[in-house]
Amino acid sequence: MNNKAFYLETFGCQMNVVDSERIVDLLGNIGYRQVDEPGQAGLILLNTCAVRDKAVRKAYGHLGRFKPLKDRDPTLILGMGGCIAQQEGKQLLEEFPYLDLVFGTHNVHRLPEMVQQVAEQHVRCEETEFLDRETRLQLFPVRSGQEAFTRFVTVMQGCDNFCSYCVVPLVRGREISRPSGEILAEIRDLARQGVREVTLIGQNVNSYGTKEAAELSFAALLDQVNAIDGIDRIRFTTSHPKDLSDELVECFGRLEKLCWHLHLPVQCGSNQILRAMNRGYTRERYLEIVRRLRNACPEIRLTSDIIVGFPGETEADFAATMSLLEEVRYAEIYSFIYSPRRGTAAAEIVDTTPAKDKQERFDRMLALQQEISRQTWEADVGTVQEVLVEGESKLGEGQLFGRSTWNRIVNFSGPAELAGSLVPVRITRAYRNSLLGERVLP
Ligand code: 5AD
Ligand code: SF4
Repeated sequence: MNNKAFYLETFGCQMNVVDSERIVDLLGNIGYRQVDEPGQAGLILLNTCAVRDKAVRKAYGHLGRFKPLKDRDPTLILGMGGCIAQQEGKQLLEEFPYLDLVFGTHNVHRLPEMVQQVAEQHVRCEETEFLDRETRLQLFPVRSGQEAFTRFVTVMQGCDNFCSYCVVPLVRGREISRPSGEILAEIRDLARQGVREVTLIGQNVNSYGTKEAAELSFAALLDQVNAIDGIDRIRFTTSHPKDLSDELVECFGRLEKLCWHLHLPVQCGSNQILRAMNRGYTRERYLEIVRRLRNACPEIRLTSDIIVGFPGETEADFAATMSLLEEVRYAEIYSFIYSPRRGTAAAEIVDTTPAKDKQERFDRMLALQQEISRQTWEADVGTVQEVLVEGESKLGEGQLFGRSTWNRIVNFSGPAELAGSLVPVRITRAYRNSLLGERVLP
C-alpha cells in the first residue's frame, strides 16, 4: 500500500496557483490527500516558475532539500511541474536521478495517470508536449467555490507578445481565450456557492477574445460579469498597456463592481528600452492611458512591474524610469533586475552594464518608490474604506482581515460572521504590508 499523502509547493504567478488548485483536485480523485509536512508525504510535487533565474535556483534548491527524504524512503515519488518542467523537459530526469516525474504546463490533467504509473510500475516519466487548441479548450480549469470568498477565474492562457526578455510565451504556449459562456457559467456557479469576488486571470487579459471568431471583447465580458447577482467585486490581471482599449478604460468609470485598482506593468520609462523590449507602446502612449484611466475613475490606483538593467540601459534610460515613477505615482511596484532567459531575444544582446551598477540603480529606485508608496498608504489613515472580509486574521482572536478596493490588506476586530460581507472600516494605522482599522457601526 502506497503512502497516499502528497505535499505540494507552488512558485510563481497566479497561473501556477490555479494549476496547483487543479492538481489538488485531480489527486483527490485518485485518493491522495494534501499534507503540510513533506516528511509525511509519499508524493512530493513542485510547481515551478522560470521567469527569472532567482525563481529557478529556488526551485532547484527545494528539490535538493527533498533528496535526503528520497534516500531514506525509495518509494517516495518526487515530481516537478510548471514552467521549469516545461522548458527543461526530459533533461531534468537526466540531471536529477532522484526525480520521478516531470509534467509540463499543458499536461496537468495527465498527472493522476502519471503518478499511478510511477507508483505501480516503478518507471520514471515525462510529459511536456504542447497541446492543440481544441484539446486546450476542453481543459480550462473549472473552480469550485467552497471555503473562499474570493477566487481566480482563468479567462485566457498563454501569450503571443514575445516581449524580448520574457520566457512565458515559450513555456506557456500560444494565446487562447476560453469561451465567454463557460466563464460566465462558472462565475454564476461560484456566486451560488458564496464567492463574492472574482479575479479574472490570464497572461494578458486585455487581448481576451480578439483571436477567436465572434467572441466578446474583454470589456464586454466585464459588463456581463458585473451583471451577475451575488458577485460584489471584480478584479483582473495581467493587463498589457498596448491592448488596453478605450472601451476597457471606460469600464472603470461605469462598472460599480470593478475595483479601483489596475496592475499595468510599464517595465521601464525609456522609449529606446521599451522598443528593445518589444513592448509595443511608448512612454507617451502609456502616460496617455494613465491619464484616461484617471479621468474615467479619479480614485483608481495603479501598480506596476519594472525591470532594471535591461541590456543597453544607460543612466539616461534609467533616469527616464525614475521620472516616470514620479509622474505616475504608483501605489506599489514590483521591481526586478533583468535576468537573461534562454531562448528569448534579449538573451542574445551583449550586456555591458556591470552588475553592481544595476544593483545600485535598483536600490535607488526602491528608495524612491518606497517613499511614494508610504505617502499613498499614509493618506488612507482616517478614511473609511469598504472591506471585503475574507476571514479571521492571524493577529489573534476576534481579529478579521479583508481587502480594500485598492487591494490592500485591512485588519480590524469584529465577529467572525462578517466573513464574506462588505464592511465599512475606518483606517487607524498604515504599515508596510497592511492597514489597521476599526469597524464603522451602522
Ligand atoms: N528578467 C527580469 N524580470 C522579468 N520579468 C519577466 N521576465 C523577466 C526577466 N527576464 C518581470 C516583468 C514581468 C514580471 C512578471 O516579471 O516585469 O511583468
Ligand atoms: Fe511575458 Fe510580455 Fe507575455 Fe507578459 S506580455 S507574459 S511580459 S511576453
